[in-house]
Amino acid sequence: MSGRTPSRRTSSQRTSSQRTSSQRTSSQWEEITAANPAHSTWYVERFRAMAAAGQDVVGEARLVDSMLGRGGRVLDAGCGPGRLGGYLHDAGHVVVGVDVDPVLIAAAEEDHPGPTWLVGDLAELDLPARGVAADFDVIVCAGNVMTFLAPSTRESVLSGFTRHLAPTGRVVVGFGADRGYEFPQFLADATANGLSVDLMLSTWDLHPFTNDSDFLVAVFSLEGPSDDSSTNLAR
Ligand SMILES: C[S@@+](CC[C@H](N)C(=O)[O-])C[C@H]1O[C@@H](n2cnc3c(N)ncnc32)[C@H](O)[C@@H]1O
Repeated sequence: MSGRTPSRRTSSQRTSSQRTSSQRTSSQWEEITAANPAHSTWYVERFRAMAAAGQDVVGEARLVDSMLGRGGRVLDAGCGPGRLGGYLHDAGHVVVGVDVDPVLIAAAEEDHPGPTWLVGDLAELDLPARGVAADFDVIVCAGNVMTFLAPSTRESVLSGFTRHLAPTGRVVVGFGADRGYEFPQFLADATANGLSVDLMLSTWDLHPFTNDSDFLVAVFSLEGPSDDSSTNLAR
């Protein structure tokens, strides 16, 4: 985890000799905002305008709410300006939001007070080190966050999700096709990092995933000993 100011030099500009073990790899989002510092503010204002115009900006959060008992513990991973975590806090859940962009975290604090909003890199997620228990009932990663990571950090992010889940917790991740992270690779990476896919949808309002889908919403739980309850039912 890091609240350090991102370097203006992009990761692709860095030579391997300049990269040390203490150096983070900038996410693609940080490279976009380094190239265009107005991008973060534009993103904040875009969602503020949509909300002010009465548009539905919390559809993903409604699905997450349906996955939880009351007073659940939610990690909004790559929370941006907090539209989802804010809704889930208002619904009575205990929300922690983590995002690498300090401008977006400042907007989340301003627009959605209540949750714990933290500047941090999902590739170095260690919430217990920041006094937050790693026992989330749901980790939600919405809004194409997976496709804004540095590709080399994707597996670290997925293993961080695994480490921060309660034993019965679930992870829900949504992102679009043709954004540089192929769905089969993503599913293989998730499985290799301790997550077992429970459900695949093509939208946040529960349309099923098919081979033609241009969006994936995948729900995972922790890989564990195989559950033979279905076998028991068949007996
Ligand atoms: C398109 S925005 C989505 C924000 C929010 N989830 C939403 O749906 O409104 C992508 C977000 O991913 C965040 N992000 C990208 N790489 C990250 C990383 N390594 N750690 C934490 N956040 C990251 C960006 O800062 C940005 O807020």
